[in-house]
Amino acid sequence: MSSDNIISEPMPRHIAIIMDGNGRWATAKGLPRTAGHSAGMTSLEKIVRFCSDSGVKYLTVYAFSTENWKRSSVEINGIFKIMVLYIKKEIDELDRKNVRMCPVGEWSDIPGAAAKSMQYAADRTAGNDGLVFNIALNYGGRREITDAFRDIVKEYKESGKELAPEDIDENLISEHMYNPEAADPDLIIRTGGEKRLSNFMLWQCAYSEFVYSDVLWPDFGPDELMKCIKEFNSRHRRFGGLDKE
Ligand code: IPE
Ligand code: IPE
Ligand code: MG
Repeated sequence: MSSDNIISEPMPRHIAIIMDGNGRWATAKGLPRTAGHSAGMTSLEKIVRFCSDSGVKYLTVYAFSTENWKRSSVEINGIFKIMVLYIKKEIDELDRKNVRMCPVGEWSDIPGAAAKSMQYAADRTAGNDGLVFNIALNYGGRREITDAFRDIVKEYKESGKELAPEDIDENLISEHMYNPEAADPDLIIRTGGEKRLSNFMLWQCAYSEFVYSDVLWPDFGPDELMKCIKEFNSRHRRFGGLDKE
C-alpha cells in the first residue's frame, strides 16, 4: 500500500471491524481452525499498523463474542493463546506508535493469561494519545446495554438519589457504554461474506455505514481496507436529513 493511497482518501474517524472467516480460511487449506485464527492475528497486526499510520482516531475490532463460548474448548483456548501472543509480540510497537489499547466487553472474566495480558496492555498504553484501539473481547452488544443500565442504577443507589424515568436519556446511556469516549463508528466492516451484526455495537451502530467484504479475514489487508473506505466515502450520510443542494 503506497502512502499516496493513504493521503488520497479521507479516513473515517472511527472504523469498526467484524473480523470473520478465520475458520473457513483454515478449513479450505486443510488446516485446523486455530491456524485460521493465527493467520487472522497477522491481518490484525497489519490493519492496526495501517490505521495508526493513516490518522484513523478509533479502531474497534470484534475478537471474541459472548456467543463464541459455544465453540469447542480447543478452539476457545487457541484463540485466547493467540491473543496473549499478539500482545507479547506487538505491545512494544503499539506503545511506540502512541496507540492506546482499550479492551471492551466482559474481558476481565476470561480465565487464564488472556485477561492479564489485556490488562497489562491497557495499563501500559493508558497515557498514549494516538490511535485508540478497542479490542472487543467476550463482547456482546446486548450485554453492553444491560451492563450500562445496571451501572446507572448502581450509581444512583450509591449516591442515595432516586432514579426518575426522566433521568434516563440517550446521553446518559451512551456515557455508560464500555468506551464512551470512542463515540459511534462511522464505518462497520464485516469480512468473510456474512451480512449480519452478530451482536456487535448494537447501541452505537444507529447511523454507521455498513460495508461487507467477501474476503476472509486472514486474506484482508490494507488494500482491502482501502476499498472499503472508498465505498464509505462514496456514500451520502444524511442522518435523517436531506442532501445539501
Ligand atoms: C472469526 O472467524 C473469529 C471469531 C469468531 C473468533 P470465525 O472463526 O467465525 O471463522 P468462520 O466464520 O468459521 O470462517
Ligand atoms: C462474529 O463472528 C464474532 C466475531 C467476529 C468475534 P461469528 O462467526 O461468531 O458470527 P456468526 O456465528 O456467524 O453470526
Ligand atoms: Mg464466523
